[in-house]
Amino acid sequence: MSRLCSRIVLAFTAGYCCCCCLCSADVVDFSVCLQFFYNAWPPKGLTGTPICQRFYNQHRFATLYSRQRRSPWFSAYVYTVPLGKRPRATWKFEPQLAYPGAGGNMIPFPPGPLDQNVVESQAVDQDYINSTYSRGHLNPSLHHRSHKARASTFTLTNVVPQKPGSNDGPWELLEQTVNKTIAAYCLGEAYIVTGIIPYRSSEPWLKNHRVAVPEYMWSAYCCPNYNHSLPEELREVFPTYAAIGRNDPNSTEEIVPISKSTKKQFRGYDVRRMSLETLEMYLKDRFNTVIKVFYEQCNTLDG
Ligand SMILES: *[C@@H]1O[C@H](CO)[C@@H](O)[C@H](O)[C@H]1NC(C)=O
Ligand SMILES: *[C@@H]1O[C@H](CO)[C@@H](O)[C@H](O)[C@H]1NC(C)=O
Ligand SMILES: *[C@@H]1O[C@H](CO)[C@@H](O)[C@H](O)[C@H]1NC(C)=O
Ligand SMILES: *[C@@H]1O[C@H](CO)[C@@H](O)[C@H](O)[C@H]1NC(C)=O
Repeated sequence: MSRLCSRIVLAFTAGYCCCCCLCSADVVDFSVCLQFFYNAWPPKGLTGTPICQRFYNQHRFATLYSRQRRSPWFSAYVYTVPLGKRPRATWKFEPQLAYPGAGGNMIPFPPGPLDQNVVESQAVDQDYINSTYSRGHLNPSLHHRSHKARASTFTLTNVVPQKPGSNDGPWELLEQTVNKTIAAYCLGEAYIVTGIIPYRSSEPWLKNHRVAVPEYMWSAYCCPNYNHSLPEELREVFPTYAAIGRNDPNSTEEIVPISKSTKKQFRGYDVRRMSLETLEMYLKDRFNTVIKVFYEQCNTLDG
C-alpha cells in the first residue's frame, strides 16, 4: 500500500495527475462497481487493494487483490447463464496496479519484455509457466454469457495458483453444479463471491517467492429471488450456499475430509458443500477476524 501511495505522490509531482486521481478510482475502492455485490455491500473483514475489473470500457466484476501475495483474496460477480465456448486464454494484467494514472482497462500481456513496474506490482505469465500449479480462476468464464465478460476473467489478478487435481476435478465440478443449479432455480440475480484461505504458516509460493499459494478455495452465492418449488434435495441450497475446496492433498482433514474412493488424479482435492454460516466460521477461524460474505447472510431482502 505504501508503495502505491508514494507512486501517487510521484505522479502528482510529475504533473500529470489531476485527472488520474479521479479515474484511478478503479483500484482505490469498490464505489464504481458495487453492482457486483448483493445489496451493494462488499464482504466485510478482509483487507486488500480493491480492483473494479474493467474490459472494453465496462466494469465486468470486482476483485480484492493482495499486492503482497500477488494474487486475489476474492472476486465477486453476478452470474449470467453461459453461452458458447470457453474463449481462448489471452492473459491480461491490470495497468493501474503499476501506474495509478494508467487507463482503467485490463490489457493483454504484450509479447517481449515487460515493464518492470508491471512485473513488480502483480503476477505475470512467467510466474506460472513450468510450475506445478495451474491458473485457477476465482471468477470463472463458465459463469458468464457474453464473450467479453468471459474473456475478462482471464486476468492474472483474478487467478490463484491452483493444483490441476482441483482445477480440472472437484472444483470444476462445483462450478458446473452451481451453474446448473442457479440457471434452473434462481429467478433474479445470483451474486457469487469466490476467494481463498491462506495456509496458517509456512505457505508455499511459486518459484522466486513472488506469488503465494492458497491452501483452500471457497465460494458462496446469494440468490435472494428463487423458485420456491425446489426439489427436496435442493431445499438447503437457496437462497445461499457455500463450499470449500482443498488445494493440497497434504492438508489436514478438519475442514474438508478426503474421499478415498475418488480417482487417483483428483484424490485429496475434495470440495465440501456447506452452509454460509459454516463457511464464515472457518474464515473467522483462519483470518482471526469476523468475515461477512453477504449483507445480512443474504436473508433479509427476499423478493
Ligand atoms: C520451462 O521449461 C522448459 C523445459 O525445461 C524450458 O525450456 C523453458 O525455458 C522453461 N520456461 C520458463 C519460463 O521457465
Ligand atoms: C451451464 O448451465 C447452462 C444452463 O442450464 C447449460 O446449458 C450449460 O450446459 C451448463 N454448462 C456446464 C459446463 O455445465
Ligand atoms: C419453478 O419450478 C417448477 C418445478 O421445477 C416449474 O414447474 C416452474 O415453471 C418454475 N417456475 C418458474 C417461475 O420458473
Ligand atoms: C505432500 O507431502 C509429501 C511428503 O512430505 C511431499 O513429498 C509432497 O510433495 C507433498 N505434496 C504436495 C502436493 O505438496
